[in-house]
Amino acid sequence: MGGPDSLIRIRGLPADTTSFVGRKSDVTEVRRLVSSARLVTLTGVAGVGKTRLALRVAAGLSRSFPDGVWLAELEHVRDAALVAHTVSESLGIRDETGRARLTVLAEYLRDRKLLLVLDNCEHLADACARLVTALLDAAPGLTVLATSRERLRVPEERDWQVAPLSLPDPEQPMPPGAALQYPALTLFLERARAAEPNFALTPENEATVVRVCQLLDGLPLAIELVAVRLRALPLDHLLSRLTEDCWALAVGPRGRVPRHQTLEAAIAWSFQLCSPEEQALWARASVFAGSFDLAAAQAVCDGPTAELVAGLVDKSVLIREGLPGRPRFRLLNTLRQYGRDRLAPDDEDDLRRQHRDHYLALAERAEERWFSAEQLEVAVQTRLEHANLRAALDFAHETEPGAGLRLAGTLWFYWAGCGLLGEGRHWLDQALAANPDPGPDRGKALWVNGYVATLQGDLSAAHAMLEECRDYAKETGDELALAYSTHRLGCNQLVGDDLTKATALFEEARNRYAGLALDSNVMLAHIEEAITAVFLGDLDRAAALCEEGRAIGEAHGEQWAYAYAIYVLALVALLRGEPRQATAHGRQALRIKRTFNDLLGMVLALEVLAWSAAAAGTAERAALLLGAANQIWPSVGYPMFGSRYFGAPHRDCERKARRALGDREFEATFRRGMGLTVEDAVAYALGESPNTSELDLSGVPQLTPREQQVAELIAEGLSNREIATRLVISQRTVESHVEHVLHKFGFTSRAQVVAWAERMQRD
Ligand SMILES: Nc1ncnc2c1ncn2[C@@H]1O[C@H](COP(=O)(O)OP(=O)(O)O)[C@@H](O)[C@H]1O
Ligand SMILES: [Mg+2]
Repeated sequence: MGGPDSLIRIRGLPADTTSFVGRKSDVTEVRRLVSSARLVTLTGVAGVGKTRLALRVAAGLSRSFPDGVWLAELEHVRDAALVAHTVSESLGIRDETGRARLTVLAEYLRDRKLLLVLDNCEHLADACARLVTALLDAAPGLTVLATSRERLRVPEERDWQVAPLSLPDPEQPMPPGAALQYPALTLFLERARAAEPNFALTPENEATVVRVCQLLDGLPLAIELVAVRLRALPLDHLLSRLTEDCWALAVGPRGRVPRHQTLEAAIAWSFQLCSPEEQALWARASVFAGSFDLAAAQAVCDGPTAELVAGLVDKSVLIREGLPGRPRFRLLNTLRQYGRDRLAPDDEDDLRRQHRDHYLALAERAEERWFSAEQLEVAVQTRLEHANLRAALDFAHETEPGAGLRLAGTLWFYWAGCGLLGEGRHWLDQALAANPDPGPDRGKALWVNGYVATLQGDLSAAHAMLEECRDYAKETGDELALAYSTHRLGCNQLVGDDLTKATALFEEARNRYAGLALDSNVMLAHIEEAITAVFLGDLDRAAALCEEGRAIGEAHGEQWAYAYAIYVLALVALLRGEPRQATAHGRQALRIKRTFNDLLGMVLALEVLAWSAAAAGTAERAALLLGAANQIWPSVGYPMFGSRYFGAPHRDCERKARRALGDREFEATFRRGMGLTVEDAVAYALGESPNTSELDLSGVPQLTPREQQVAELIAEGLSNREIATRLVISQRTVESHVEHVLHKFGFTSRAQVVAWAERMQRD
């Protein structure tokens, strides 16, 4: 997205982890296609290099797309209904109202000039075609670069067939020393050296290398899989095993393997070279979606040792995602497919059941740990397992809907607390529909979904679910469900502007909670009742309730609900005529909500900061923040929940800012605010706003390897928190690295690092 400084960002594009070889003319041609067509699809067999090429082209095009170049990765999405979800998440639109995702996406893209890379469409081709058609229609500034084994069959589509890397012609003698003019050989050599540093191309082995690459058809993934084996096998053996083994099975006329079978043959070959234990792990690990950690592998896949996992990493079957101290592993998609095909159907069911049970148990532990000082860690971990949680929810829905209901309800803190209202709603709706019979799990899913729907401003749907839960709880004497549903009905009334009913329900809920264990919801009952008191003008009572809620949080190291208490204290300060105090509270709340990625919490804090700015007489700041909030609201739900009481200070703020600035100036500033990304808006609100007026792009400073890593992640557009997650170091450590990086560059903001990286890429 273009910030106020119209800096261009490349968001969500992964940094190259291995060198990029050849493809000069592909890059030029695809770039040309992208500038003339609105949908370009890179097609070709698995492993041919579609994704790498797309990313290469995209990275070079960021200048042409002021609103950025974004990657949506569909590899792990199984459910066609989640395509639009995934795309909007990738664009940073993390949540939505009850409205269809597609509508939200279309609206978001309407006025933006942006390149969307839609990677791995093949298994969802129809859903992708529908989505792209609708989006291209709605958003004239949108260009899509897709990768897929086959075309999407959309009328505007232009396709580019990605061929394997070029090779010496087997029919023609190759002039000596010419080998490295061929990208396939360059790739082989580079990957061979990475596995076996002493490997070199010599006049003696050149012909053998050429022969291996020819057998592999120049297919990059096959080359990588085979070259890595030089760690253990000398080149001659490698060739003879290649020709003897599975190639023999797949070879067609003239001793050649049909191209679409090359990769399969290379994979089969790689599989045969694994020990039986490694083969079993390879097959079993196919049950994971996205990445997994060792503990998950041990729980789900028959307890492999760390050495066994490391063996598959050495063979480039598992990709290790470089997180020192907390490694995760991932199977390449094509290898996963192969592994899955090696499982007996019964084994696959058993595995998926164990996978589901593992993630259900993990979610249950996370729910328990949520109300504790480990809360942020829980949020980060749950996010890392998002793809696996989806897979578990999917599997449960197909086979044992009761488990799906339980899992969807258990994750309430994730849906409601970490910016995932829309997705939470999807799973909860689905699970409730599949489990119509009353019971404790349905009771829980009802109050959770009622909670999520209320936050989206979908009040009547929420009300019906909460009433059903309350009736059930009363009938069966389920004290927990009774307390939660009463509390959430109170919230529903608060947002629906019936303050009398809301107060009574909150009071009742707090009484019921008194007999139960403390948790974040107990805090929220105090805090939400405090909001009711604010709207009723009883500021002292509001402050006292907040302090009570806050004290519970402090005693337990709870941060997330705690931040809402601080938010309400900001409201109280504002109404007491203390805008500076309000700003301080608002910022503290915002800082915490940012660490949880809690979009609702963030936009509420941005609003209160806008109101405080107007009250303090800084109208421009107020207008900018209102614009920023305005842009975020549709991703959360109805602006200010559609509530009259929440809306009143908002309207008051706008009136003040308009009066101070004049309509034209107000609207121009408001629009500037609308152009901010969430991250930039938050940075601005916290006074960390980027200042790009004096870029110094001259020298390239000496960075330590860690600083280099941090600088690259900054350039990708990651926040400190995201960098901390990615590198598994504390946010404080990241902050100090960032400081060093900025200092060494002589920069004052991270946006300058982005600009610098951009320039490096172009040069
Ligand atoms: N031009 C290239 N230079 C270096 N490595 C490449 C190149 N093209 C592909 N690869 C590598 O080959 C593997 C398969 O490429 P990928 O782009 O994922 O293929 P696809 O998307 O067509 O399945 C990846 O490990 C990738 O890094
Ligand atoms: Mg791909």
